[in-house]
Amino acid sequence: MCGIVGHLGSSHSIDLVLEGLKRLEYRGYDSAGISFNKQSGALEIYKKQGKLSNLVDFLGDIKEFNALSCIGHTRWATHGEVSDANSHPHTDGGISIVHNGIIENAEDLRTELVAHGYKFQSQTDSEVFLALLSTTVAKGTPLQEAITSNFSKLDGNSAFVILDSKTSDIWAIKKGAPLVCGLHEVNSDALVSSDPYALVGFADKLYFPQDNVLCHLSAGNKNLINFYEMDGTKSDRYMSKKQEMSLEVSDKGSFDHFMLKEIYEQPGLIRALTKYYFDGEGQETLNNISKLKPGRFLINACGTANYAGLVVKDYIEKFNKIPCQVDLASEFRYRNPLILKDDIGLFVSQSGETADTLAAQNLCKQGGIKTLSIVNVEGSTLYRDCDYNLLIRAGIEIGVASTKAFTQQALTGRLLSHALGDGVDKKSLKDKFNLLATRIDELLSRAEELKSIAESIHHFKGFFYTGRGALYPVALEGALKLKEIAYVHAEGYASGELKHGPIALIDEEMVNVALVAPELLDKTISNVEEIKARKGNIVVIGPQNDANSKRVADYFFGLNYEGLGELSAVYCNVANQILAYYMARFKGTDIDKPRNLAKSVTVE
Ligand code: G6P
Repeated sequence: MCGIVGHLGSSHSIDLVLEGLKRLEYRGYDSAGISFNKQSGALEIYKKQGKLSNLVDFLGDIKEFNALSCIGHTRWATHGEVSDANSHPHTDGGISIVHNGIIENAEDLRTELVAHGYKFQSQTDSEVFLALLSTTVAKGTPLQEAITSNFSKLDGNSAFVILDSKTSDIWAIKKGAPLVCGLHEVNSDALVSSDPYALVGFADKLYFPQDNVLCHLSAGNKNLINFYEMDGTKSDRYMSKKQEMSLEVSDKGSFDHFMLKEIYEQPGLIRALTKYYFDGEGQETLNNISKLKPGRFLINACGTANYAGLVVKDYIEKFNKIPCQVDLASEFRYRNPLILKDDIGLFVSQSGETADTLAAQNLCKQGGIKTLSIVNVEGSTLYRDCDYNLLIRAGIEIGVASTKAFTQQALTGRLLSHALGDGVDKKSLKDKFNLLATRIDELLSRAEELKSIAESIHHFKGFFYTGRGALYPVALEGALKLKEIAYVHAEGYASGELKHGPIALIDEEMVNVALVAPELLDKTISNVEEIKARKGNIVVIGPQNDANSKRVADYFFGLNYEGLGELSAVYCNVANQILAYYMARFKGTDIDKPRNLAKSVTVE
């Protein structure tokens, strides 16, 4: 979703901000812009709809200019169409702002401002905050006070970064949206961003402010970055840590797309996860978690992470006999859920910044129960807000369509169930994890088979992914992957449910991707027969030696499930990932940055 980068310091602010924005392209956006001081007091703004490269071309030689400070933004439209005018930064009265999030009471505030004669330049909610700021400052209020007093008038979750042309200082504040400051002590650079990844190499120390902490990046102050409470007193409500990320991970290497690279990373990541939690530092984390005595898990997540949550529910209910309830976080937060005192809130998230997941966590916290995350980004808001965290250790995921995160989330859930006492000995579970890595290696070596199936079926009009039991969540995830990157209509269904309605859609233009496992095999095949009888095209991803699966299939991809037990779901899912990837290739879509999607959804 929207990306923010700001820099104040040594030199080349513009270059540095543009480089930071480039790194945030993976999050999804539709326009980009920057502002900086050309001469003291003269604020320059450049913004363009479309790709960042449009902005860079538009800037021409300007980007060589030595600005002392600069702020930049990649916008993912929420209020107002995609246009140059609605792109950020917005500016008025020598102040320039960029914004992530949504101002929910923007319309009311806008009406009031218009009634007082304010002239808006854009349709965005963001400009409302700028209008409040500039009108307050025009009355003689210092900028710091203007920011805090007006920020508290806003409803909804937001992060703002503000450039003051009079001083070249940068201010930042957030509530329920990601924000990180960075410092490079040797170079005397101070930075701010919505994502620590933008700051790799530019800052060696990171600061994560809490909600309603005002950050001040100032060349005139020996600390470069200072934090204040809303009442103007100094604040210590921020977490600091060393920057440990590296940029190498963001190289596609020999792969055509990040998504493909990330799919192929999975066996290595599974092996590393196994080592970390069975033999490494992760043992201590699991040990701490083993002391929990949940009466029930309230699992909350969105998108792919929600489907991983369904896999985790299967594990915990099967092995630990602890009831689990899986909710879409966006629903949980508004449905007055019953939160009981022995419940534990379990939140699954790649980014740790998904607005609805954070809100669900907050609700559980308010309900007085313990919260635990299964999360990828260490230091993310979810990570900081939960009582316990299990890191999935997937490394940065650049492809917008989540792949390796699903695998690691499900497996980390299996480790959680092990820690809570699953009656399975450590060695056999460890062997099973390693076997899974080997099987995925083998599967990936046969990717050409899936490519050829994709070539044969990519022109069909609609797709039903079906699965039973453990493969039901995989059917949901398979269909989501196809929708996300191939832009075709696909639905995930429980195999037995198709005949209760959707079967009306089956004809020779429809495909059933039937996910079949040794469990419930005959019943699943019977459901496939029902589709076949209605002339649907059948792709079976199923047990490699099963004659029945082969017989019903127009296209067959065999899997060797032997010995994988409950990890079969994760294994089968990799075949879906490859199939979706090649379908998208044949469709010619923008695989790593699919239209309309964002990697980290920081608004409701
Ligand atoms: C977005 C992404 C999905 C992701 C979902 C949840 O929709 O495009 O890939 O599954 O958000 O994100 P999270 O970071 O919480 O896992």
